[in-house]
Formats: sequence, C-alpha cells, structure tokens
Amino acid sequence: MTKNNRFDFAIWTKLLPPSEIRALLEYKVKWNFGGGLPGALPIETLSDILVEISEENKRDYDEGRYGKAISLWNYGPTGGQEFCLRVLADRMRRIDGLYLDEESGWKDVVLTAGSQQALYAILDTMIDPGDVILTPSPAYLGFLAPAFKMGAEIVTIPTDLDGIIPEFVEKAIPLAEKKFGKKPEILYVVPDSDNPKGTTLPWARRKALFDISEKYDLLLIEDQAYKEIQFKGESIKPIKSLDKENNRVAYLRTTSKEAAVLRMGYSVLPKGLKDEVLKDKGYLDLCSPTILQKIMAIYYEKYIDKVLPECLRTYQKNSEAMLKGIEETFPAGKHTKPNGGFFVWYESEKLFNSKQFLIDVAIPNDIMFVPGAAFYPIKGWALEEDGSKLVSSQAKTNSMRLGYSYNKEDEIYEGITRLGKLLTNELG
Ligand SMILES: Cc1ncc(COP(=O)(O)O)c(C=O)c1O
Repeated sequence: MTKNNRFDFAIWTKLLPPSEIRALLEYKVKWNFGGGLPGALPIETLSDILVEISEENKRDYDEGRYGKAISLWNYGPTGGQEFCLRVLADRMRRIDGLYLDEESGWKDVVLTAGSQQALYAILDTMIDPGDVILTPSPAYLGFLAPAFKMGAEIVTIPTDLDGIIPEFVEKAIPLAEKKFGKKPEILYVVPDSDNPKGTTLPWARRKALFDISEKYDLLLIEDQAYKEIQFKGESIKPIKSLDKENNRVAYLRTTSKEAAVLRMGYSVLPKGLKDEVLKDKGYLDLCSPTILQKIMAIYYEKYIDKVLPECLRTYQKNSEAMLKGIEETFPAGKHTKPNGGFFVWYESEKLFNSKQFLIDVAIPNDIMFVPGAAFYPIKGWALEEDGSKLVSSQAKTNSMRLGYSYNKEDEIYEGITRLGKLLTNELG
C-alpha cells in the first residue's frame, strides 16, 4: 500500500493513464473536432420503436401474458436472445456476404456491451503477458490500451492513404518472432473508414491480409465499427466474407454509429473463441439487456435501410465542409479523404508538436481536436518504413485527428478554417 493511497491498486493502474480522448471530451469549446459522437441519429424512428415496444409490453401484461411481459425486463442468455441474433445474422448474410447458415448461423453471433467489450474480451481471452499482436500505425486507442494493459507486445505496421500495408505485415512477422521468441497471435484492422485515419482498405489488401493470417495462423480481428457509415464510392466486402469456415476472422460490428449508442455490439466469432469470449462476458456483465435487443431487432428488421441514407447525407456534407476548409487554409501536409466514418487525419509537412499547439493555441481559441500521438502505443514496437527491423515505436507528433460527425457543416467549415489559419501562423 502506498502512503498517499488507502488501497493497493493493481500495477496496471499506475502504468496506463485514462483515455486522453475521453478527457478531451470534457472540455467545453465552440468547435469540437475531438470526439467521435454520432451527430445524425434516427431519433424519430428510435422513439417510435420505443412506443411500439412499450405498447406491446403493456398489451402483454394487460392480457395476462405475464411471462412474455416480464421477460422484456429480465436477465437473458449471456450471448443474446435468439430473436435478436436471428435478425442480425440474416442481415450480415444478405448484405455483408458472410457465410452464416440460414437456420443455425445466428448461433455464431454474440452480443457485447458495445464492440469495445468484444475487443476487450477477445484480448482478455487471448493475451498472456509477452504475447505479440500486430496493429496499424496509428491505431484505435480503445484497442491499443487494453492490449497494453494485458501485457501484449504491440508491433505497429506502417499505413498509407489506403490503410495498413500487407507486405509490411508479412515482413514484421518473422522479425517479431525473432525478437520475442514467439510468433504474433493477432492482427487488428479497421477496414472501412478507420479510426483514427479515415482510410479504407482496398479489396486486394483485404484478401492479402486474410491470406497472411491463414499462412501464419493469426486471429484477424476485423473491427467494422463504420461498416454502415459509408457515403462515397463502392462498398467493399468485408474480410470476413472470405472466412467460409468461420475459423480465422473475428468480425465486430456495433449499433453505435448506425443505430444509436445503445452500448450494444454484435460479433461473429470463430467457434472456440466465441466460447471463451462468452465465458468472459458472463463474468463481465452476465448478459445484455433484453429491451435493447428488442430495439435492435426492430430497427435492423424494419427501419435501417429507410433511415440511414439521410444520416449518411449529413455525414457526407460534414466531411466535405471539413475537407474544403482544410484544403483552403491548412499548411502544407497530407490529409485523408474519407469515404465514410467520422474522421480526417492530417499530418503537416513541417514538424511540430500538435499536443502543445492544442493546449497553447487551439483550446484558447475555442477549438478542440485529438493530437495524433494519442493513437500510438504507450510502449510498443514499430516496423521501420524500409521494413528492415523493429524499433521502439515513436508517435507522429505532427498529426491530428479531426472529427466531423457531430457539428453542423457551416460550423465545421468556420472552425476548421480558423484552425487552419492558426496552424499556418504557427508553422510559418
Ligand atoms: C474503430 C472503433 N472500434 C470500436 C469502437 C467502440 O465502439 P462501441 O463500443 O460503441 O461499439 C469505436 C468507437 O469509437 C471505434 O471507433
């Protein structure tokens, strides 16, 4: 027990700081490009669904179907209820092209508290200290932080404007094996409009990553948080559509961006992994709320295709306003042009520390963004850009993640052009 603290907290609490992004969300600024809050949600539909559920529940109760009425408010199976899993499995088979059996495929689907819990539980069930995982550089903080907490050796792979580069994944595998004395176990990717960069993996890269995972026996985690938030270009089939036997790819989806932040994720997991994740979830939260599953089942069965296009138009307009502002006012550098999702990534040509700039200049001017450094592991290894060796991972401090999901398009343009002028001033 330390002197200043009554309790003897676990070692990880001293090593892992709280999420920088969640801390930034606390700031009240006029132009907040920091968070990734969905700003276009089908509120009218969601409230109609609530009424529909409530009326049915009342009818069941009034007409004496007590068992059915009370089940809406009760515990249920850990992985989710059949009525909800069937709707999700059916949609993923039809739209995403997954190999899910029409009758029994729903049994491969697991519900979690957001896809965040699925990521956490997969790492929790796979990683012993010293196990090796591969991630893009930069990567989603919500994956990096739990991986660090569980003691994983995190090896980051270079990305370009099309996302993670498969040849580098293949180069990193033997280097990691040599360095850590064991081969990597997991490859993590966000193929559609990733967080933080907003890049989309072309089909050839998806296929190459699947083949590499097969060759080196990796678990490929395909985090498809932004699968439905696609507003430009052709939609590309998920990597999971190649996994005919359901034994290679953990396919993670979420309601958070495409329905509402219900804290509900839905995944298709390879068989053995599914059982372990369910065991973990059983101890994490016992089960998912039935009423939320009811909302999901109705939304995905009847409404999503009618109401999502309107939300997508908003996100597209927002992204265009942001890109226009960047292109007109930002100093020389590179930025992504997302087909979907919530984020643009910017890297200046000139080196500077975007976190310092945020504190000294942007926040005092009522502007928030997330410094790019937040998306690199606290401790990890990076494959050098020439692919020759693994070196201690260094954050790119001249970068920033800019979110366009929440603000209105004219506010975005106004705030981004202000930010651009401040940056130009800073970088000369
Ligand atoms: C890439 C990615 N994966 C997973 C998540 C977790 O989302 P949720 O837990 O709300 O499903 C997020 C949230 O921002 C994300 O951006």
